[in-house]
Amino acid sequence: MKPCGQTDVDSIKFAEQFPLGSPPALSLELFKFMSTASTPIRHFASDNYAGICPEAWAALAEANAGHVTGYGDDAWTQKAADLIRDVFETHCEVFFVFNGTAANSLALASMCQSYHSILCHELAHVETAECGAPEFFSNGSKVLLVSGPNGKIDPAGIERMVNKRTDLHYPKPRAISLTQATELGTVYTPDELKAIWAKAKAFGLRIHMDGARFANAVASLGCAPKEVTWQAGVDALSFGGTKNGTHVGEAVVIFDRELAREFDYRCKQGGQLASKMRFITAPWVGMLQNGAWLRHAAHANRMAALLEEKLRPISPVKILFPRQSNAVFAELPRPMIDALRRRGWKFYTFIGSLGCRLMCAWDTREEDVAAFAKDIAELAGRS
Ligand SMILES: Cc1ncc(COP(=O)(O)O)c(C=O)c1O
Repeated sequence: MKPCGQTDVDSIKFAEQFPLGSPPALSLELFKFMSTASTPIRHFASDNYAGICPEAWAALAEANAGHVTGYGDDAWTQKAADLIRDVFETHCEVFFVFNGTAANSLALASMCQSYHSILCHELAHVETAECGAPEFFSNGSKVLLVSGPNGKIDPAGIERMVNKRTDLHYPKPRAISLTQATELGTVYTPDELKAIWAKAKAFGLRIHMDGARFANAVASLGCAPKEVTWQAGVDALSFGGTKNGTHVGEAVVIFDRELAREFDYRCKQGGQLASKMRFITAPWVGMLQNGAWLRHAAHANRMAALLEEKLRPISPVKILFPRQSNAVFAELPRPMIDALRRRGWKFYTFIGSLGCRLMCAWDTREEDVAAFAKDIAELAGRS
């Protein structure tokens, strides 16, 4: 199949229906047009390639009425924060920021002084993909890397790193940053988190959780969100909305009140206080109030399971890590990767040179999975 060709045809259809000069109203009709079977192919590069889910879109439209107080002093923001407190079944402080890098960096900065260090997995987004923002926002805290299988921190590695140097000349370990679901699509169980918490308690470390795909982790585990956060020692969570189906905005959920002190000033100084805050928070209300966040995450996880099921029997495809959330990691031969890209498929290869990350989203359809797997099977047959 030729995904790019399809895109072109659909662009033409779109232009015919909504010609330039007459911008369409932000209507359900437009949304349906963009979501129907004839719309462009869904890729497997990232869940942030996906659009805005209907629940978030509807809430945005509803929020777009009249004048509302700015900077978060509004009913949507209040409601979103209350719904998050309901999700976690505890009183926690909630702050909304523009993206995951800001959420992680500001949360970590609240835990660390400039002379501290942050322990994270060597593949952690805070280390590999945030341009040094955690160090920047904490005025220089050093990120130290811990290894562990399947993208998860090995608790023994924490102990090794803390004991490696205890002198004044080395930055003092102060925080652990975990990613849930991990960068390799695996998920920490409550027991695994508690083993890390035991080390944190032993060495006086705070725990931050990068939950860009927290919804996928919870949907995968089938547990209560509290079991993998504050009941497992997490002090602050970057709760991802974008990959789950909103257009922009993540929530920093702080379980330890002390860390929340003056966090609003951090957000403002870091350029993270949205003046039209309701357009970040209304989608959260749309997502949380009827459980859409978990439905969409469970759907994305199911699509990844289906993709794994279709790819596993195809030789020479090699599944690389246990598939536990919405990503499948597969090693494909170089000619196959190149051929898939020539056919228009987009996906990342950042595990070695042949390890492909295949990510499903809330809007990935069975047809997309089938089309992609069919192309792989066809290319495998040729080799
Ligand atoms: C594990 C993880 N954390 C955080 C983020 C958030 O990054 P961004 O700043 O692009 O929203 C991402 C996005 O790719 C991610 O994969």
